[in-house]
Amino acid sequence: MAFQKALMESEVSEGKVHKARIGKKEFALVRMGSVVYCIDGRCTHEGGPLGEGTLENGELVCPLHEGRFDFKTGAANPETDWVTDVKSYKTKVEEGYVWIDF
Ligand code: FES
Repeated sequence: MAFQKALMESEVSEGKVHKARIGKKEFALVRMGSVVYCIDGRCTHEGGPLGEGTLENGELVCPLHEGRFDFKTGAANPETDWVTDVKSYKTKVEEGYVWIDF
């Protein structure tokens, strides 16, 4: 595990889901103030692109079949039981970039 540069900090605005790719690995990021949360970019259901999802009631919603996730922890909402938890990753904001530890 090591921090790797993902996106420019200025690209990551609040209130929106962002996608990042490092090599073949995809991530979904959500910023809240100075903290950026990061979870896997592929849904556990049918691989929907979570980085293209939306935010609703504090949850990240998969764009394909509306599976819901806690973007802080990756936990799936039991009300959408067709999805299971995704992994979450540590991030840091430094030198004008968002870095992901994976
Ligand atoms: S692929 Fe995400 S809910 Fe189906």
